[in-house]
Amino acid sequence: MKSRRLVYEGKAKVLYEGPEPGTLIQYFKDDTTAFDAKKKAVLEGKGVLNNRISEFLMTQLGQIGVPNHFMRRLNMREQLIREVEIIPLEVVVRNVAAGSLSKRLGLEEGTALPRSIIEYFLKDDKLSDPMVSEEHILAFGWASAQELDEIIQLSVRINDFLSGLFLGVGIKLIDFKVEFGRLYEADMVRVILADEISPDSMRLWDLKTNEKLDKDRFRRDLGGVTEAYTEVAKRLGILQEGQDNTGRKGPVLVK
Ligand code: TMP
Ligand code: ASP
Repeated sequence: MKSRRLVYEGKAKVLYEGPEPGTLIQYFKDDTTAFDAKKKAVLEGKGVLNNRISEFLMTQLGQIGVPNHFMRRLNMREQLIREVEIIPLEVVVRNVAAGSLSKRLGLEEGTALPRSIIEYFLKDDKLSDPMVSEEHILAFGWASAQELDEIIQLSVRINDFLSGLFLGVGIKLIDFKVEFGRLYEADMVRVILADEISPDSMRLWDLKTNEKLDKDRFRRDLGGVTEAYTEVAKRLGILQEGQDNTGRKGPVLVK
């Protein structure tokens, strides 16, 4: 295989230099971590599923005018993306109390929130991604006021669209995390959606049973993690029953 320049290695993904300037190859690993990588596992086939789920959601979002980094899928684990300068924030949108919000405010998980809430966390593993406010973001210059405006508008649109899309397949979108980047084009800079959107970065509950179909199955030792991701892919129409694609028995990815 031709050797490629590694640009960045994260916990669940690797970025390689792309075929043209301004492009990167995003590789989805099976590695799964939680709690600042204190908990680790390799879940066979997870990367394949996240590559496809993220492709599907980014493509759909692109079609409603949410600009994002996805260009095209290259193979089972890789996609071609636009190179951006990542804004160092994890933007979390919440519809229902869960996870760190439930803990912080003593809200029972599953409590509907009075309105959707946006939170920001600084991307800094050494500090365990602390929560930050708009004041911090502007004062420390992690994003400009105009960029933050765009981030909020895009996040609200992403939430509205994904909530409806998942509702249509019997899934409640409890919360999700997104990241944005600056795309430099000629002498213009704009903010676009980057990173991934997958069950690693969302909380998805079955509408009828409240069964968790996301990474909380790993965080909380519930088992059946890739099976849950497979179920999400199937409901989204990405997977076909009966064939094998991740090397294991089970459903196959539609070509
Ligand atoms: P939280 O309730 O733990 O703050 O998580 C909120 C959402 O963000 C949830 O959908 C999971 C996602 N998330 C990530 O994608 N990466 C992370 O490192 C963390 C902590 C959460
Ligand atoms: N990204 C986090 C970590 O490994 C995991 C999580 O999503 O909870 O540290």
